[in-house]
Amino acid sequence: MLPTETTLPADLRPTSLVPQVMRRIREKGLLSTIRRMSFLANELYWERRLGIDTADCIPREFLSEDPASIGYDPIGYRQLALALHHADLTAPTGTFIDYGCGQGRVLARASVLPFERIMGVELSSKLCDDANANIDRLSRRTTCKTIQVINENAKEFVVPDDTKNIFLFNPFTGHLLEGVVEQIRLSLERQPRDLTILYILPPKAVDIFSRQAWMNKTFQHAWSGLKLHVHHSLPSIL
Ligand SMILES: C[S@@+](CC[C@H](N)C(=O)[O-])C[C@H]1O[C@@H](n2cnc3c(N)ncnc32)[C@H](O)[C@@H]1O
Repeated sequence: MLPTETTLPADLRPTSLVPQVMRRIREKGLLSTIRRMSFLANELYWERRLGIDTADCIPREFLSEDPASIGYDPIGYRQLALALHHADLTAPTGTFIDYGCGQGRVLARASVLPFERIMGVELSSKLCDDANANIDRLSRRTTCKTIQVINENAKEFVVPDDTKNIFLFNPFTGHLLEGVVEQIRLSLERQPRDLTILYILPPKAVDIFSRQAWMNKTFQHAWSGLKLHVHHSLPSIL
């Protein structure tokens, strides 16, 4: 049984809410408490609106033996909205890929956008089961009808040549990331095209796309210690 830590319901449980809020105000101050409550309310709103359950937090040791992998911790819905705002939605919208899709939060949220296909690649079969259950439960009418969860090591995953948007939220570093970048490059070589990469990566891995001559950085935004980067392919250089 995997250990899970679901902060959302505990923080928002009505019986414990008032004492918790008072204690947090004493310890962290009013402004920080308002920000935290606003964050949690937004998380809860989107989980309910989509009808999904993606708020677990699972350390890497329970998912993979490879230290280059990172455990499961979903991106906040606000950060995700900003990232998706930078996705290329010009027709044909092609495939959107979330590398390390976990319980499927990004897949579910992206499904209200007009992507032709959404794919999540995930190493853990347990998380793939969770993601598929969440997709089955999606309560909101989705715009994208083809959502696929692929249980595979991202490094081995062959990028479909109609992929136009790729998203990464702290899935892995090192040789895994190098392998994924090579798979992306090979796909662009097979089918030169515009490709947008939206990512948040740990500091030690963050410059990997800037080092690729065939990618061009167009946007960067930092908040609460996280930095969103947006890169576009330069098909003429490949
Ligand atoms: C920080 S979570 C991000 C989850 C999701 N993308 C989101 O933003 O809500 C990172 C995910 O990457 C997955 N992962 C780690 N190494 C992987 C690999 N080699 N191949 C595929 N997925 C991997 C983990 O199991 C975990 O679910």
